[in-house]
Amino acid sequence: MAALISTTSTTLLQHNHHTVCFSPLKTTTPYTIFLSTNRFKSNYINSIKCNAFLDNNIIPKELLLELDYTLVKFQSVTEDLSGLQKWGFLAFAGLAWIYLTARPGVLVGAIDAYLMAPIQMVLDSLFGRRSLKGSDFVIGDKLGEGSFGVVYSGVLVPRNVNSAEEKIQKSGNKIKGKVLTKLDPKAKDKVILKKVKVGIEGAKEFGEYEEWFNYRLSRAAPETCAKFLGSFVADKTNSLFTKGGKWLVWKFEGGRSLADYITDRNFPSNLESVMFRRALQGIDSSKRDALIIKQIMRQMVTSLKKIHDTGIVHRDIKPANLVVTKQGQIKLIDFGSATDLRIGKNYVPIFNPLDPDYCPPELYVLPEETTSLPPEPIAAFLSPILWQLKSPDLFDMYSAGIILLQMAIPTLRSASALKNFNLELRNCGYNLKKWRGFTRGRFDFQILDEDSGRGWDLATKLISKRNSPASGRLSAAAALRHPYFLLGGDQAAVVLSKLSFSTR
Ligand SMILES: Nc1ncnc2c1ncn2[C@@H]1O[C@H](COP(=O)(O)OP(=O)(O)O)[C@@H](O)[C@H]1O
Ligand SMILES: [Mg+2]
Repeated sequence: MAALISTTSTTLLQHNHHTVCFSPLKTTTPYTIFLSTNRFKSNYINSIKCNAFLDNNIIPKELLLELDYTLVKFQSVTEDLSGLQKWGFLAFAGLAWIYLTARPGVLVGAIDAYLMAPIQMVLDSLFGRRSLKGSDFVIGDKLGEGSFGVVYSGVLVPRNVNSAEEKIQKSGNKIKGKVLTKLDPKAKDKVILKKVKVGIEGAKEFGEYEEWFNYRLSRAAPETCAKFLGSFVADKTNSLFTKGGKWLVWKFEGGRSLADYITDRNFPSNLESVMFRRALQGIDSSKRDALIIKQIMRQMVTSLKKIHDTGIVHRDIKPANLVVTKQGQIKLIDFGSATDLRIGKNYVPIFNPLDPDYCPPELYVLPEETTSLPPEPIAAFLSPILWQLKSPDLFDMYSAGIILLQMAIPTLRSASALKNFNLELRNCGYNLKKWRGFTRGRFDFQILDEDSGRGWDLATKLISKRNSPASGRLSAAAALRHPYFLLGGDQAAVVLSKLSFSTR
């Protein structure tokens, strides 16, 4: 601890009518503070005995020591300043604090990047979490393929298992001859593996960004996304692996994405027991559907608020990138296209083919003329101004609006209908009210029109041109304050379902 203190100074603290006296000359208290000084050079150590009439039950020792330390430091720094200069200093410190803690949080970001990330790395290494190998997994079905990666299901197997057959057996799976058939859905330690493509331009960077964002979110907002288990680089080439190719690994969070549920004929009833753990009784079917959709929206927007608070914009929000867990949680996945405006990470979007059905009209998180951000520390310093002026987080909120519309209007749930809707919306200048005027009863707006049309109102405030004066797209925080959520009955249903579970 580097601090400055005068051996003759006495600090008085008034707190809860208790006067606390710190004096270096008295030796009657049990507290001893060791402070090294800058002014007297750091090898000068003062041992200061605190004489304090303390009521330990009222004022915690740690708080007193902390207060004393801060006051003494402040005193020593401002000792030579005039009264006016002291106020100036205070005002500057206050403003600096406000700026550094304003969204997206330069201070917290710096602490995360320079302190938490290295600590996480050391802890992960100590517990062996950064030493995954290809041989730790049995790889199963291919689940999907994007431009830069191929996604597989898989199972993590214990290290002490050697042969392939043994691995498959220990992982709880059946084998036919020596070939792995299907992974047992009940197998423990199920994982999702993403093989980053080798030799495709931009794929390597994409994999690195996805890994970076997953580590970052595992510290900043772990509940919002799939649990990231780490990565490994293949050390040999065979039918599956390419030597030097990177693989990313997550916990398997659930067998179906929101897209799988939405395209099912029974949506949204197919999520009723998942979201509320029981059938909602005594409510008519349209209201029930509206509550299920509202709960999904609430979870998604809450997660978006959390990631936006950390400076991250996902940029690929769509039902296929929302995994529904067995416990009814909606987890964000696929952060390969994400960008962190605070530090200028993955800003330039040239490699990222965003999904046009969910992408806002502006296409970019910042105006197109902003081709690159300044180097990381400068970008970090400027980021509060950038967020204030450009609101890059609103990019994801447009996608959230499209998801709301798609869930609530049954005939928009298919991919082809959504494409058609997007064409019509573009022709209406991204004005949703205008589009509705043109639909002439082709669509069923009943769910959105429930409760005096609060859902419809929210949709019009999400699906709009960014900063359009007429509607002004809502941020995640503002959306959560919208009457649609504030006066929603979905939370009550969740609480009731939990209560009925715990009393069973
Ligand atoms: N952690 C996970 N748990 C369960 N399913 C997942 C998980 N991660 C991905 N998936 C499934 O794999 C699909 C593709 O994964 P994603 O990361 O979106 O890759 P892509 O880049 O191909 O879109 C998802 O739509 C989802 O169905
Ligand atoms: Mg995806």
